[in-house]
Amino acid sequence: MAITVILGAQWGDEGKGKITDMLAAEADVVARFAGGDNAGHTITVGTERFALHLIPSGILYPRVTCLLGAGMVVNPKKLLAEMEGLAARGVDVSPHRLRLSDRAHLILPYHLALDGAAEAARGGAALGTTKRGIGPAYTDKAARSGIRACEMLQPPPVLAERIREQVAAKNEVLEKVYGQPPLVAADVIEEYLGYADRLRPHVTDVSAQLAAAIRSRKQILAEGAQGALLDLDHGTYPYVTSSQPTIGGVLLGLGVGPQYIERVVGVVKAYQTRVGAGAMPTELTGELGQLLRGTGTQPWDEFGTTTGRPRRCGWLDGVALRYALRINGLTEMAITKLDILSRVETLQVCVAYDLDGERIETIPAHPAELARCRPVYETLPGWKTDISDLRSFEALPRAAQDYVAFVEDLAGIPVALISVGPARDQTIRR
Ligand code: GDP
Ligand code: IMO
Ligand code: MG
Repeated sequence: MAITVILGAQWGDEGKGKITDMLAAEADVVARFAGGDNAGHTITVGTERFALHLIPSGILYPRVTCLLGAGMVVNPKKLLAEMEGLAARGVDVSPHRLRLSDRAHLILPYHLALDGAAEAARGGAALGTTKRGIGPAYTDKAARSGIRACEMLQPPPVLAERIREQVAAKNEVLEKVYGQPPLVAADVIEEYLGYADRLRPHVTDVSAQLAAAIRSRKQILAEGAQGALLDLDHGTYPYVTSSQPTIGGVLLGLGVGPQYIERVVGVVKAYQTRVGAGAMPTELTGELGQLLRGTGTQPWDEFGTTTGRPRRCGWLDGVALRYALRINGLTEMAITKLDILSRVETLQVCVAYDLDGERIETIPAHPAELARCRPVYETLPGWKTDISDLRSFEALPRAAQDYVAFVEDLAGIPVALISVGPARDQTIRR
């Protein structure tokens, strides 16, 4: 048994980066399996903060090998910029410790242009994507026209021809469907041949590398991006991302078998957030929502790591949590940002929805039905004291202990980790 999986159990931004970085202290390999630079994972070490979008959150430990799996869509420009940023801060990002799957798909400038154009065309019904080209890149993958990392290993004229053909096809859509200016193929080719030169040494068969790591009994972390409710199949479609940030995505995105998965940790923020459009039954639009969000003066306030957009905030949604548990087979939870709830006098947790007068306990498939769901709450006392310096469960105020126990009861699985601040040591292990 070799793999611990870390998954977002909500709509993303649960604190996966922090939990991965913490668990990576005891790991040999950390692998991302899905998504791209729509993710923003923040790690805090002492006074230093690192915002990672593509590179796995294990990179700060010199002994850890970091892998970008086949299920990812990778913008080479962003990857190289992130590598440069880390290298400038003394982090080793050389090919022996940072490797990119030969089967991962590349994001090209036309994916970004199409993402922006499609969002604009949706008008008031926009999905609120991160505009990083994620949807169009996965569309190309499904349409079997995507350009993969292994193509960077081909002779430059071969790669150039692939890019030329794709730019021509995408220009048709950009110009004729969206009335956008076309891209200049020669510019894209020149840019991407340059990226290929620099990334070529990092490209490898990640599945084979993981198989070797499993054989040598290495400890592997699979770091999720996004969250269960953003899953293309099981999330709140169409307000989802275009990948599988759930357990199935781990197997597909890394090319490993299920028998090696030992633990499936669901990262659960102590309350609920969502960035982008789509229903959020427990959203608090008034003062309480703002209290949870913060004003943007603290790095952990609820503003997107990738886009800077304010996150919508609300009470913990137990219906959504049980749903995430079911579709992922979570074995345990890590609760993050419990310290933020110290701001609030009285807490509420959603335990069911009221849909047109009927009590339901799961997420309906249709977005219009989800939008009509009203949360059924249970009220719990708050604790109103700073808990960010506490390091044991017993030291937490009674009401905080009860809150954690309530979430455990609701989900039916244990809370193994409680995070009370962004730093590595602001964590209570149970
Ligand atoms: P991710 O996308 O799931 O990795 O989460 P993000 O990094 O986008 O957002 C989580 C934010 O909360 C980051 O700024 C973290 O540094 C911060 N954070 C993580 N855990 C805690 C915690 O327990 N308390 C506080 N106050 N901040 C936390
Ligand atoms: P991490 O890994 C929060 C959301 C976007 C939008 C929807 C589709 O940091 O938790 P996309 O650009 O993927 O096509 O956007 O998904 N989204 C995220 N929200 N955290 C993320 O990643 C997200 N990645 C995508 O806001 O609603
Ligand atoms: Mg994030």
